[in-house]
Amino acid sequence: MSEEWTQSDIPDLSGKVVVITGANSGLGLASTRALAAHGAEVIMACRSVERAEAARAEVVAEVPAATITVMQLDNARLESVRSFAEAFRARYDRLDLLLNNAGVMAVPRRLTEDGFEMQFGVNHLAHFALTGLLLDVLTRTEGSRVHATSSGAAFRASFNFDDLMGEDRYSRWEAYGQSKLANAAFATELDRRLKAAGRSTIANSSHPGLVRTNLQANSLKESGSPLLERVLYGILGPLLAQEIEMGVLPQLYASVSPDARGGVFYGPRKRRLRGYPAEQHCNEVLDDPGTLRRLWDESEQLTGIRYSF
Ligand SMILES: NC(=O)c1ccc[n+]([C@@H]2O[C@H](COP(=O)([O-])OP(=O)(O)OC[C@H]3O[C@@H](n4cnc5c(N)ncnc54)[C@H](OP(=O)(O)O)[C@@H]3O)[C@@H](O)[C@H]2O)c1
Repeated sequence: MSEEWTQSDIPDLSGKVVVITGANSGLGLASTRALAAHGAEVIMACRSVERAEAARAEVVAEVPAATITVMQLDNARLESVRSFAEAFRARYDRLDLLLNNAGVMAVPRRLTEDGFEMQFGVNHLAHFALTGLLLDVLTRTEGSRVHATSSGAAFRASFNFDDLMGEDRYSRWEAYGQSKLANAAFATELDRRLKAAGRSTIANSSHPGLVRTNLQANSLKESGSPLLERVLYGILGPLLAQEIEMGVLPQLYASVSPDARGGVFYGPRKRRLRGYPAEQHCNEVLDDPGTLRRLWDESEQLTGIRYSF
């Protein structure tokens, strides 16, 4: 890996088709701007077409040559995931990068339309379903990638397979950690299965460190703005957060650098909080094939999406 990989190291992406979920704000928007500026055709897959069109206009004003299309995708509804995949397949015959980035953090227990706990549903299950529904177009595209945006919250997280949806006991931070561990675990297992099937598509994951985006503000708003969290964000934010241009590097590196590998987790190099992207160890759970298989089986059963390699 180059010592200090930056956005100027992004290769020419002309002719490549990229889908980014949650592309209208934060890291997703930063990746939209960076990849479009390097020639990729970017499909912003967002729940609010209005917010996405406003973000698209912002990028096009900065990068007039950008080719960006907005398509509706609500991760809290499997029906929307299915409609998105169908609409995408009707319009495009290749997919070079699926950047599974959309997410919500530490929200009170709520359910998606399909009855999943919101964080597990939006952050993991919707992306599992979307990837499965687009797998044939991905594997038809030579050298394509699937990237999962995970989090440092995955480092000490675990799966509660007896109560994945937090019905018996719910902690919004534990549920966030579980959903972000699921992102990394899914990418690891997907990569293993792709390799076993002899496909050229790879899958990997990353975390950005701490970056001030709408994620924290939405979390506070939804959970009644707990004092401790407000204070922590107030102190930790200025102390630990890095600028979005740096925070987005791990997902960009993993998504497009010719040196990035499948089955690997990337993050900021310095104390896993700041700096240029580097390979990292996320959680020992990722080394346990039985757990990865179990998450996969549960995800297939819950979403009804069966993968065929
Ligand atoms: N910022 C950090 O410090 C940090 C740290 C670790 C990991 N991450 C991860 O980075 C990813 C991006 O987050 P961010 O920091 O860029 O936050 P953000 O600015 O809040 O962006 C999150 C994106 O996800 C979208 N989203 C939320 N619920 C959705 C749903 N039901 N369907 C479709 N899209 C939905 C949001 O759409 P709306 O605008 O419509 O709400 C938004 O576009 C997340 O997966 C997060 O867990 C961030």
